[in-house]
Amino acid sequence: MACPSDWPEPIVRVQSLSERCGGVGRIPERYMKPVESRPWLTEGGEEANIPVIDLAEEGEIGGRVAEACREWGFLQVVNHGVCPELMEAAQEVWRQFFLQPMEVKQAYANSPATYEGYGSRLGVEKGAILDWSDYYFLHYLPCNLRDVNKWPSLPISLREVMDEYSREIVRLGGVLLKMLSISLGLRQDFLQNSFGGEDVGACLRVNYYPKCPQPDLTLGLSSHSDPGGMTFLLPDQNVPGLQVRRGDNWITVKPARHAFIVNIGDQIQVLSNAIYKSVEHRVIVNSAQERISLAYFYNPKSDLLIKPAKELLAPDRPALYPAMTFDEYRLFIRTKGPKGKSQLGES
Ligand code: OGA
Ligand code: NI
Repeated sequence: MACPSDWPEPIVRVQSLSERCGGVGRIPERYMKPVESRPWLTEGGEEANIPVIDLAEEGEIGGRVAEACREWGFLQVVNHGVCPELMEAAQEVWRQFFLQPMEVKQAYANSPATYEGYGSRLGVEKGAILDWSDYYFLHYLPCNLRDVNKWPSLPISLREVMDEYSREIVRLGGVLLKMLSISLGLRQDFLQNSFGGEDVGACLRVNYYPKCPQPDLTLGLSSHSDPGGMTFLLPDQNVPGLQVRRGDNWITVKPARHAFIVNIGDQIQVLSNAIYKSVEHRVIVNSAQERISLAYFYNPKSDLLIKPAKELLAPDRPALYPAMTFDEYRLFIRTKGPKGKSQLGES
């Protein structure tokens, strides 16, 4: 099974829908979620928040990291060494990209063959209910997949800013993999080696969530877990929207200033034999402000077999997953679109 090379029906930009309706009116039926998956926006705000880990803290943070990865599958890191000006610049170049006229953006329209470029849906099921967002998807690593012509040429500083930002994310990825390995009781280079050493993958999805006149009927991004290794999310500093599943509740993340939200992806759930959880999350939209987030996916080399670490197995803890390459795994998501955690055999 290969991914089809074209979309099953004409692509509609959510940004155009949003601009056309000027913040009032009804959303097309295509974006209306079934009642049970609609967000419950009137809910009194849950006070809980995902754990904050200060990377500059002296002393032992392993225990708190382990707890966050077991209990939440999410943490936010501060004092991570990425300069705040660079984080702001990265948000800003993409804001400028999405503010450009539609013809400029259409030059980068993507296809389901690689997903690279400007897109408005995930999955190729004809007639599927769609999410209220547009996005831009890019490969950074491995180098042979990096094609600068697929990176927007405007705004003029985008390529340079994103090159520096990407290098910083890859550096931080190494730091986090070491931290996670130690917190699992493994050799510090265990996860990095399992990811292919220097040959990791890194790709960026910039999410653009336009204003929505009926935010209670739809989602900016449907519930899903991230298929890769781990994700570094730079959330919008001004507009909340990310919700993380906690039992039957959805917790709206309150990002700390200049924090990265880090979450465990399915491949680390597999490698850790489910000691660490790749937790479902989704994005809600609102009628007042658009929202932009940068999700950087840090992944294992795509043709390596990923399987539970034998150090973490015991007679009463057998391997829960078969060995599979990330290439094989990802194909499932790219054809079906975001569907909770069904790809790990959980419903
Ligand atoms: C994603 C994601 C969350 C957000 O792109 O996988 O979960 O806040 N994004 O945009
Ligand atoms: Ni995600």
